[in-house]
Amino acid sequence: MVAHKPDRTLGVFWLNASETFINIQYSDHQEDETPPVKRRRADPQTDVHWLSESGMIDCMVLLGPSPQQLFAQYAQLTGYQALPPLFALGYHQCRWNYIDEADVKSVDAGFDRHSIPYDVIWLDIEHTDGKRYFTWDPVHFPEPAKLQQHLEKKNRKLVIISDPHIKVDPSWSLYCEARDRGHFVKDREGQIFKGSCWPGESSYLDFSSSATRAWYSRCFGLDKYKGSTPSLFVWNDMNEPSVFSGPELTMPKDAVHCGDWEHRDLHNLYGFYQHMATVEGLITRSGGLERPFVLSRSFFAGSQRLGAVWTGDNVANWEYLKISVPMVLSLSLAGIAFCGADVGGFIQDPEPELLVRWYQAAALQPFFRGHSANVTNRREPWLFGDEVTAAIRTVIQQRYSLLPYWYTLFHQAHTSALPLLRPLWVEFPEEESTFSVDSHYMLGGALLACPVTEPGIQEIKVLLPGSDEIWYDIHSALVYKGGRTLSLPVTLDTVPVFQRGGSVVCRSVGSCSCTAELRQLPLSVTVALNSQGTADGELYLDDGHSFRYRDRKVFCLRRFSMLSGRLLCRPASEEGTFDCNTVIQSVTILGVKSKPSAVIVHASGAKDISAAFQYMETCCKLTVNSVNLRVAMDWEIQI
Ligand code: NOJ
Repeated sequence: MVAHKPDRTLGVFWLNASETFINIQYSDHQEDETPPVKRRRADPQTDVHWLSESGMIDCMVLLGPSPQQLFAQYAQLTGYQALPPLFALGYHQCRWNYIDEADVKSVDAGFDRHSIPYDVIWLDIEHTDGKRYFTWDPVHFPEPAKLQQHLEKKNRKLVIISDPHIKVDPSWSLYCEARDRGHFVKDREGQIFKGSCWPGESSYLDFSSSATRAWYSRCFGLDKYKGSTPSLFVWNDMNEPSVFSGPELTMPKDAVHCGDWEHRDLHNLYGFYQHMATVEGLITRSGGLERPFVLSRSFFAGSQRLGAVWTGDNVANWEYLKISVPMVLSLSLAGIAFCGADVGGFIQDPEPELLVRWYQAAALQPFFRGHSANVTNRREPWLFGDEVTAAIRTVIQQRYSLLPYWYTLFHQAHTSALPLLRPLWVEFPEEESTFSVDSHYMLGGALLACPVTEPGIQEIKVLLPGSDEIWYDIHSALVYKGGRTLSLPVTLDTVPVFQRGGSVVCRSVGSCSCTAELRQLPLSVTVALNSQGTADGELYLDDGHSFRYRDRKVFCLRRFSMLSGRLLCRPASEEGTFDCNTVIQSVTILGVKSKPSAVIVHASGAKDISAAFQYMETCCKLTVNSVNLRVAMDWEIQI
């Protein structure tokens, strides 16, 4: 639980994995009827009662007092966000189900045909042989390794689903191995527990056992998992766990886990442990060298160390789009930074306007995946006419160009526990007008995102906090003073995003078909000046896929700071050794009050150059093109 008032943010971490009720009562200036004295409370007060079914009271109070300190305190207890491989921040295309290998290839080709970048295509449960995970349907997916190689040639990945239930099938070696080695959860009588799920009668791996986790991890070995290649990644679903025949669709509380723990004691840890075993499996598969990507539906405190989560089965309607924003904000506050919601809504068919708005909103959330249920109509981005295709293309392209910023934010979450998505009060903790806002939010410290989540609207209201702040509309470069609610006209193409004065944002310039290509592109730097004429920001780069940033410090962290008309590019950390050739192609400075007489570029070891520039007086925007400065080198631009 996170609580906040103007001078303090604090947290309560109630460490318990059993069924838990939390009752929150707001008593904002209300009469307290408690006898014997009827009194009026001086302060608004919130009372919270916690009730867990089993376990000991294991409760930590985190004192903040700033939001940033609170996040760090919580991360010290439960861990920091894992740094994902770069491809995982691209767009993911999923459906229950892509029918066969030809279907996958044709969807993949569709993205190229329509010039829409994407990185990952997903296979749901139907890719298996009769819902036996770690197998392939022999008719529809006869050559899975070839399929992965086909995608890998284009630097794209395949994600397959792997659920925790195992089909009871004595003729299947994986089932027999798990049974014979005692890897299944037992019932109260000590027999292997059986429940029903997608394959019919199933038993459930006991992920609370380290031996079971180690065994499961080995199942992802390339030698063991036939048809898998290093470009296959994993999705753990139904891991609450779902038991169709069980009470409340889950496992009976008296089922027994290793060490004789009842399921009631660890229910909420079950999925976390599966996620952990899968992550371990992928890391081990790569000899400890490559960062894994695993999405899990169930999670617990600490799941941020493992990978991504999503908000589960949503519906293709406007309400679900709207609540996706506070849902991912809540997850972000709770340390789970890599989160998202199914684009378009999983159940039912979205109307085109809803689909476009959903892409726009989700492109501003960390995990960005289109997904749809088996009974819905197909909804690849090009199936709704040219206007919709163009709108979705624009949004996905914008997501890709902003990936240098997203990746830098992940680095910050990984090292200092700052969530990527921040409710406005996190950045403006003393401003009470921000406290109840959950329709727009800060994406890192620099961008304020305000997705449109209502149909047919022509105007949107955005709170721009801070009376001494300046905000720049990233599309029009129009300048707004903070401390006001802005009414902004919107069309179907509008995605209101503002850059905060005082910040620097890096983007990739040019088109790409996936993140591997994006890495080759030059960058643009946008410096947004605050009222003192200063700005700063960071850029993090590494190889995008391995653990070398951690084990051998192969990374590059640069700082851009602008003061008194000088923009400096310097190392933000002396530690990194990543030798990158990435070049800054252009620099835009917002908030330059008058046209400068000259712009001088000074790069270390080179002669000063007087650079050509454009100045737009109407929006105080200065652009210096073709600077071609290496990001890893020290340089400065003087205006
Ligand atoms: C439930 C998941 O939430 C959904 O995303 C998935 O498509 C189905 N299970 C089928 O695997």
